[in-house]
Amino acid sequence: MAVGIFDSGLGGLTVLEAAQKRLPDVDFIYLADSAHAPYGVRTADDIYELTCAAVLRLFDAGCDLVILACNTASAAALRRMQEGSIPEGKRVLGVFVPLIEALTERDWGDNSPPCEVDVKHVALFATPATVSSRAFQRELAFRAIGVDVEAQACGGVVDAIEDGDFVLAEAMVRLHVDALMRKMPMPQAAILGCTHYPLMLDAFQEALGADVKIFSQAKLVGESLADYLTRHGDKIGVGEPAYLTTGDPKQVSNRATQFLRRQITFNAA
Ligand code: DGL
Repeated sequence: MAVGIFDSGLGGLTVLEAAQKRLPDVDFIYLADSAHAPYGVRTADDIYELTCAAVLRLFDAGCDLVILACNTASAAALRRMQEGSIPEGKRVLGVFVPLIEALTERDWGDNSPPCEVDVKHVALFATPATVSSRAFQRELAFRAIGVDVEAQACGGVVDAIEDGDFVLAEAMVRLHVDALMRKMPMPQAAILGCTHYPLMLDAFQEALGADVKIFSQAKLVGESLADYLTRHGDKIGVGEPAYLTTGDPKQVSNRATQFLRRQITFNAA
């Protein structure tokens, strides 16, 4: 069955696109919970309930493996789901770990004890819910020691992107980068901890300066998914690909087509 990819809105398309490029023989079903986006300003309980409902919808569509291509859902809901609400034979994976493995220069799935790494000063840009969960710092502490993380909750960026207002999104990015750099003037690396933010990659790079290495998830998740599927062949997805949304399919299709610069047609979830 197809592999499910879930995001609150359109940000997960950045992950889907990279996964499709890396795994051209795998079919994907993408689900955008556009009716409830953005998740980043919701409570953890709320995000958990919405994420469970979306994942269940993808299981019902036949997916055995669902990728939460949403840091906010990964931060607020994944661990709780893995502790109890995932049916036998189904699997849900998040997008944090591949990013942290790349930052700490580990092989995919390397669970050896934490050690010193080259990068010492890291700027994290994410939604308010992801920042307040501290999930990124928790996962990092399992793998690295002595890394100073300064987090910036980027309120407003996802709303502007979902509205297709890139001028506003760019202005908000500059504002958030300035605020971060007042707290950490010389980050060595920056993490785009929200799958919407790669759509604003140039704005982040320009505001941060060319010397700051930016880690963004799309490509990394594609690579780690390929690695996972070679180890778990039974989860390789072949089925009816689809784009589903809980919002208005016409409006969501128009935005998605604008983002990816190719025709994308969403149907009602
Ligand atoms: N793209 C999502 C993330 O990675 C969600 C953003 C939101 O809905 O606030 O966090």
